[in-house]
Amino acid sequence: MRSKQPPAPAVFRLVLAVAMAAVLAVMAGAGAGQADAQSSSPPSSGAQNSRVQTGGSQSNCVECHAKATPQIVKDWNQSKMARAMDCAGCHGTAHHEAGDARLAKMPSGTTCSACHARQAREFAAGKHNLAWEAMLAVPRVAGQPSAITDTGCASCHGIGRDGGKCDSCHTRHKFSKAEANKPEACVGCHRGDHAQLESWESSKHGLIYAAEGDTGRAPKCQTCHMPSGSHKTLTAWGFYGLRGEEADPKWKENRDLVMKMPMRLGPGKAPNVMRASMDEWNALRSEMVATCKNCHSESFAREQLARGDAVIKATDTATAEIVRIAEGLLKDGLMSEPTVNVLYREILPHRMNAYIGAFHGSAELVHEAGWQKLTQDLVKLQDEEKKLRKNQK
Ligand code: HEC
Ligand code: HEC
Ligand code: HEC
Ligand code: HEC
Ligand code: HEC
Ligand code: HEC
Ligand code: HEC
Ligand code: HEC
Repeated sequence: MRSKQPPAPAVFRLVLAVAMAAVLAVMAGAGAGQADAQSSSPPSSGAQNSRVQTGGSQSNCVECHAKATPQIVKDWNQSKMARAMDCAGCHGTAHHEAGDARLAKMPSGTTCSACHARQAREFAAGKHNLAWEAMLAVPRVAGQPSAITDTGCASCHGIGRDGGKCDSCHTRHKFSKAEANKPEACVGCHRGDHAQLESWESSKHGLIYAAEGDTGRAPKCQTCHMPSGSHKTLTAWGFYGLRGEEADPKWKENRDLVMKMPMRLGPGKAPNVMRASMDEWNALRSEMVATCKNCHSESFAREQLARGDAVIKATDTATAEIVRIAEGLLKDGLMSEPTVNVLYREILPHRMNAYIGAFHGSAELVHEAGWQKLTQDLVKLQDEEKKLRKNQK
């Protein structure tokens, strides 16, 4: 992770200045500045003299970088933004020759938000914005080698750093809308222990997408989670299938036990880990149904989603039993805390697979990788408990 950038007021002012310059340039239409930014031929000497002050399309960044980093310049020239500004628009002008590259500013989401207020505002209201804080909420991060956390956790959770790492989906320096609109933009992070890729791929939706391509007939991640291009990614049940309010008392009791798992492991302490009120939960459910309704009837959609809710309820019954046994063994000194943690870490994804599979329409995930594994976990632990308690006597 680069961390050179804390946007000092000076940088921020520069960005605003560039923003205004860019807006003016766009409003003025195809001006001379646009031609300069896109060509890699040497600018006129007049342009060179004024380059450092403007930080806009008249700097010599592109000219030298066409040799220093040619592919970056090629990628940048494919970006729509190349018409409005050049490298200095994001990296500033402090570095302007080969020897002083360390002076280049490294932009963050704050740099982008100066010109893309809507996307930045939506992003800030969703979960991606909290990803960095969520990672830091896990106490184990502090105890692990930074070599692991930097390349492991941080490469996914960095999406929430400093106002958003926008190039997580719009990779640099092409910064393309079309690229971000492909499922490939999401699934490097959303797979494995959080099996959204696997569940979507094996659903009817994913299978049609694979067979027909992006024809609009079958929904992809963005269709359901970024409708109308909204950058606010947030779901009703969230990562752990939890919610703050529960009318059914038995389910509530089980939920409180299930909560012990993410609390022990750490992620339970992440910011906005669950929707606090049923009002918020219902509003998010209705937003999702509105998307399904583009292709299905409302009653069909609500019924399918209610099946997902029922899967969470069923897994909570089994998971609560696991937690009850494990916490009992811990309390009686028959199982150590690290062992309980390892157990929870293994079991949680099985619970998650079941409901992630249900909501995304994958029978394989619900059954094989979910419920079947979870019930095996329970049986194994019940046997283990019998042995441990027998030895104790
Ligand atoms: C005369 C050549 C030259 C000019 C002009 C130039 N650069 Fe560079 N720049 C380089 C070279 C060479 C490197 C690579 C240095 C290295 O590998 O450590 C570099 C590196 C960079 C980096 C990466 C820094 C890092 O820490 O990895 C950025 C960003 C950058 N330049 C932006 C710009 C911008 C913006 C401008 C115009 C204001 C500009 N450059 C002008 C030659 C130039
Ligand atoms: C729209 C904003 C934006 C513009 C304009 C821009 N960059 Fe970047 N650049 C970024 C971002 C974002 C990063 C990654 C920063 C980070 O991860 O800390 C980056 C990183 C870099 C790096 C270091 C990483 C690497 O892959 O080597 C270089 C070099 C670089 N930019 C060169 C350039 C050059 C040359 C131009 C002009 C042709 C340019 N940039 C224009 C946003 C921009
Ligand atoms: C100085 C203002 C400015 C800054 C800073 C800026 N942009 Fe842009 N961006 C623009 C303009 C202007 C356009 C529209 C270009 C067009 O539609 O022709 C644009 C377009 C885009 C698009 C749409 C591209 C497409 O394929 O349609 C994306 C994505 C984007 N910007 C991402 C970013 C990211 C990410 C950053 C920060 C790393 C950033 N922008 C920083 C001005 C800016
Ligand atoms: C660089 C990694 C990365 C990429 C790329 C990424 N995400 Fe995420 N996503 C995360 C992380 C990390 C979280 C959890 C954030 C938190 O804990 O606050 C998350 C959370 C979410 C959530 C919120 C779930 C909830 O708790 O309600 C949704 C929905 C989501 N992502 C969808 C997407 C979609 C759709 C794409 C592609 C367009 C995408 N993500 C791309 C890392 C990523
Ligand atoms: C047909 C619509 C649809 C598609 C396509 C879709 N999702 Fe989902 N996704 C849902 C629904 C519904 C939920 C559960 C919402 C709730 O909490 O009520 C969900 C939940 C999530 C969550 C929250 C945690 C969880 O799994 O329960 C994430 C993250 C997520 N999806 C990411 C993705 C990614 C990444 C893709 C693409 C590989 C994708 N989704 C494709 C509808 C969809
Ligand atoms: C999780 C992936 C993801 C992240 C992270 C992300 N975007 Fe996007 N962005 C998208 C998708 C998908 C679209 C296409 C939406 C559409 O089709 O209207 C898009 C579109 C855009 C557009 C083009 C809007 C238009 O209609 O022309 C801009 C500008 C943009 N994003 C800026 C940003 C900025 C700024 C950030 C960081 C604060 C950011 N994005 C972070 C996925 C992402
Ligand atoms: C491959 C990408 C990836 C890696 C590596 C990764 N995570 Fe995550 N993490 C995610 C995604 C994606 C989510 C959200 C998934 C969902 O909503 O279903 C998430 C969720 C979380 C949450 C829950 C946040 C919430 O509010 O719901 C925490 C905490 C967390 N991760 C911490 C960590 C830690 C600590 C590490 C390293 C030990 C790590 N993660 C490694 C992608 C990753
Ligand atoms: C872009 C259109 C589109 C959207 C949006 C969409 N679907 Fe679908 N869905 C389809 C198509 C096409 C099929 C295949 C119909 C078939 O199975 O014959 C399908 C199939 C399904 C199936 C499998 C039905 C079966 O009989 O096997 C379920 C379940 C489903 N969708 C649920 C949902 C839910 C829930 C949502 C919203 C979260 C949703 N879909 C959003 C197009 C869509």
